[in-house]
Amino acid sequence: MAITLSESEQESLLEFSIQVAKEAGAVILQGSKSIRQELGGSSGIDSKKNSVDLVTEWDVKVEEIVRNAVKEKYPDFGFIGEESYSKGLRPELTDDPTFCVDPIDGTTNFVHGFPFACISIGVIYQRTPLIGVIFNPFLDQLFSALKGHGAFLNLTTRLPLSPPSPLSSLSSALIGVEWGHDRTKELVDKKANSFSRLAGDPAFGVAGGKMAHSMRSVGSAACNYALVASGGLDLYWEIGCWPWDVCAGIVIAQESGGFASGGPHVNHDGDVTEEILHGRKYIVVRAIADTPGESGREAQKRIVKEFYETVEDWDPK
Ligand code: IPD
Repeated sequence: MAITLSESEQESLLEFSIQVAKEAGAVILQGSKSIRQELGGSSGIDSKKNSVDLVTEWDVKVEEIVRNAVKEKYPDFGFIGEESYSKGLRPELTDDPTFCVDPIDGTTNFVHGFPFACISIGVIYQRTPLIGVIFNPFLDQLFSALKGHGAFLNLTTRLPLSPPSPLSSLSSALIGVEWGHDRTKELVDKKANSFSRLAGDPAFGVAGGKMAHSMRSVGSAACNYALVASGGLDLYWEIGCWPWDVCAGIVIAQESGGFASGGPHVNHDGDVTEEILHGRKYIVVRAIADTPGESGREAQKRIVKEFYETVEDWDPK
């Protein structure tokens, strides 16, 4: 029989996830010190798909910590983790609560000491993200949300950090983008063309250029979602991430009033579906103020439409 969660059980699950994220955060900090003290900084660092898709012994260690804590407290819940998934542990998603965890999102940053790396703990329930906890121990920032209860920074500060403003078009947006791990010519060209159209000046030769205010790459999908939820980024887009990179961020962004969706052919309004979660194409737009004649949600959808008319689309490998 499917497991059902009452309101108070959902709240305890959030508290548990926050507790585990804090414990994991302490280990991440310890790992970061240790990895940077080691000779050349490269011992204990491995690569998965290629030389830029890094994994460290700390990713594995942190996932173990989270998995064991979950096993002890919630033995019947599902568990999808980045590291175990890459070793072939790939449970089917059911209606039961399922943890969806990236032990260190932003592993490259973790290795380099660039302070945007975090643990990302999501819980999927009835096939849609229910809980999101993102903890960046380098900046001591904890983002958390339970569906229907708002999103918070460090437990007490509501997100977004200031009241949402309107967003007239991409030309006034600050956009989060990433290079990702796939560096084949085909994909690097598609990304570069997309970035060029987002940034370029149409009056000076960039056909279809939007001349956005600028673009940022912080190197962690989860941190990008947290930045959109905070209001610092207007939107974030990436093709090629996995559910554990985005699951927690989706809840936090949605609960801050943001609009989280998938690729250009996805048409949805409410909950993020399994298709979006597993679709490996993600977009999220910050909360936008209602204006006379256009609701914030309509504005978010307008921005998504303008975005997808500007960038290229491809299927991740
Ligand atoms: C990666 C980061 C990166 C994004 C990649 C992700 P990882 O996660 O979020 O910003 O561009 O698509 O896979 O490998 O650091 O856990």
